[in-house]
Amino acid sequence: MTEAHQAIDAAAHDDGHLDLSDHDSFTGGVPHRTFERLRAEDAVHWTPECDGGRGFWSVTGHKDIMTANGNNAVFSSGQGIRIEDQSHEEYMARRTFQETDPPEHRLTRRFLNPAFSRPAIMRYEELVRGLASEIAAEAFARDEFDAVEALAKKLPMMMLGRILGVPDADLPFLVEKGDALIGNTDPDFTDTIVDKVDTEAYRFMPFRSPAGVELYDYAQGVMDGKKDVDPEGILARVLGANDEQGVMEAQDFKNFFCLLVAAGNDTTRYSIAMALYQLTQNPNLLAQLKTGTVWNTAPDEFIRLASPTMHFRRTATEETTLGGKRIAKGDKVILWFVSGNRDKAVFDDPHGVNLARDPNPHLAFGQGGVHLCLGMWLARLEVRVILEEIAARVSGMEALGQPSWTRSNFICGVKSLPVRIRR
Ligand code: HEM
Repeated sequence: MTEAHQAIDAAAHDDGHLDLSDHDSFTGGVPHRTFERLRAEDAVHWTPECDGGRGFWSVTGHKDIMTANGNNAVFSSGQGIRIEDQSHEEYMARRTFQETDPPEHRLTRRFLNPAFSRPAIMRYEELVRGLASEIAAEAFARDEFDAVEALAKKLPMMMLGRILGVPDADLPFLVEKGDALIGNTDPDFTDTIVDKVDTEAYRFMPFRSPAGVELYDYAQGVMDGKKDVDPEGILARVLGANDEQGVMEAQDFKNFFCLLVAAGNDTTRYSIAMALYQLTQNPNLLAQLKTGTVWNTAPDEFIRLASPTMHFRRTATEETTLGGKRIAKGDKVILWFVSGNRDKAVFDDPHGVNLARDPNPHLAFGQGGVHLCLGMWLARLEVRVILEEIAARVSGMEALGQPSWTRSNFICGVKSLPVRIRR
């Protein structure tokens, strides 16, 4: 067992039998032993829901996840992509193109693809490096600090602003609201904890969250021309689309805005945070980064280990079988990307960190499906460049305490990590 493996297991506090429907099962980190047991014993596992929901299939093996994700005719995104069941009215009010199947999905996706393609994103490298260099210099003015606040959080927020085309002054507000949306089960991010209080009043809002109301208002301001947005940014471009490119209705635009604010921020933050956590656990990793030989592969290895969006849901459109189990029409099928990413049938030493892993067929971006992450190239660029800037400045990073993890079975991440650096 590698040093890093021990660290991950220690962080999981997991006896192999935790309830995947319970957000509290994730407060000590991902319950990797539970996933490991399921992959070995019952890879497509019927999972009752602790809140009285109708239950779901947990798909935990790499192969079965790829099979389901590649077949959207049978495993559809068109009835919601999170475990929560929605009425048809709630679904229609809250859905984005991510909650649709082809051919409907294709129009928006085709319009957005060029702005997020690898060449388009690589044009931001200089900008990203400038921002990352400022962030690192500011953080390293001190020897001790919280690595998530000082290093992981800022770059995704700043780049989200550039991509959307919104003023920098609005970013703290957007990040706070994005955190509240995606962290709707975590008391550190919201008072309206979705599984603890009555959220009926917000059932037509993204993530059943009151933060959705404020983000909708912001998006309305953009539509009304009351916000000073960059004409080259994605919001202005979407609003300027013609009929052929696919004009978004007002409600679709508001939901699209919320999707980007939620998806473009925490996920990359938690990937960087996982990398920093790993650096504190194994000094050899920083030494390896400093050699400069693993920059093509290291970001994806950290993203594989982080798997910040642990699952997305599909719904069976017909009776089918998966991994030898009979799935009924209408059943909820949860693709646990976070589990597929530790499947020993695909990854040697799956809990270990191999910065030179190549190929690295991880599923953290929803690989194998039509909803493959739009922000994948941006996330990879940000992870690489901030780590390059860190590796150029420090010779060691030591944890001063335990990391704290998000309370969520949807988004996993290190929320805080006190560190001391050595120059
Ligand atoms: C490491 C960081 C990230 C991870 C792990 C991640 C993960 C994912 C995953 C797993 C999906 C597939 C969802 C599904 O199958 O239903 C997805 C889709 C998506 N992601 Fe990301 N994401 C990241 C960063 C970003 C960023 C930076 C942005 C935007 C700036 C973004 C925007 C989106 C959008 C718009 C979709 C929906 C695409 C579609 O439905 O066609 N993501 N992401």
